[in-house]
Amino acid sequence: KTAGTLPRLKVLLAGPRGFCAGVDRAIRVVEEAIRRYGAPVYVRHEIVHNRTVVEMLEKKGAIFVEELDEVPEDAHVVFSAHGVPKSVPVEAQRRNLLYLDATCPLVSKVHREAERHYANGDPEESRHILMIGHAGHPEVVGTMGQLPPGAVTLINDAEEARTVQPENQDRLAFITQTTLSVDDTAEIVKILRERFPNIEGPRREDICYATTNRQEAVKQIASSCDLMIVIGSPNSSNSQRLREVAERSGAPRAILLPRLDDLDWSVLEGVEALGITAGASAPESLVQEMVQALSHRYELQIEERSVKEEHVTFRLPFPLG
Ligand code: F3S
Repeated sequence: KTAGTLPRLKVLLAGPRGFCAGVDRAIRVVEEAIRRYGAPVYVRHEIVHNRTVVEMLEKKGAIFVEELDEVPEDAHVVFSAHGVPKSVPVEAQRRNLLYLDATCPLVSKVHREAERHYANGDPEESRHILMIGHAGHPEVVGTMGQLPPGAVTLINDAEEARTVQPENQDRLAFITQTTLSVDDTAEIVKILRERFPNIEGPRREDICYATTNRQEAVKQIASSCDLMIVIGSPNSSNSQRLREVAERSGAPRAILLPRLDDLDWSVLEGVEALGITAGASAPESLVQEMVQALSHRYELQIEERSVKEEHVTFRLPFPLG
């Protein structure tokens, strides 16, 4: 290396990465609501799990709250992409709030599956549901909240799949969170199918196309990287899974980076090939900022490695669509 020249760094950009169709739609719901009804528009829970997105919408006039009781009378309120328990729209109606539902259509699909298995609690038709997902995640809270308490048992991991003791083993069904690890979930489903041969469920699981594609893209580049940076928030389930997938697929190290300011540049010491991806709730602008910042310190050789093109878009919900 001669004085004045920058060190070289190879950057592998995983594709697809970043925004999925459900996140894109949820953001448009808030923007359109503000445009139509004027600020402020309230949003129950972070619309998507990303600080940059939340702050951008706050600037436009969104106010984020955790629960409906923080929303004043006559206000407009948007429900986040993760979905909400049935009790939330009921409560909104009771309080005469004008609500808009930004639940991702692929999450709503799982809600309907759950209702179909439950069959209104009909003793002949109803199946007890095992939901594969992470305790406390808002999507899990929302999906379990489609049905009365006790109708759904949460399965967090393979160990719980091995030990769960449902009352009637012949009348079971399973559903899953949409943002799980494809590989972990396949293992859990296998255990459940072996233990309960009559269990009903989707053909594979309910993991969405965006989660599947982003994990696949990371797998393709992980072993060629010394470090993988996953741009995404710690409370973003799909971003966390991307970090795990990277390490399991051969990246010696993978870190989650909410945004550029959080980067400890020393992690790049000794790195010759850097992989970059972004969770489904992380805007592409964060990736570009990252590449820009790298270009000031390194002579970059950038390669896009795309495993799939995505052409999914969702229409806005009533009455915005
Ligand atoms: Fe929907 Fe999947 Fe995105 S469920 S919000 S498309 S990560």
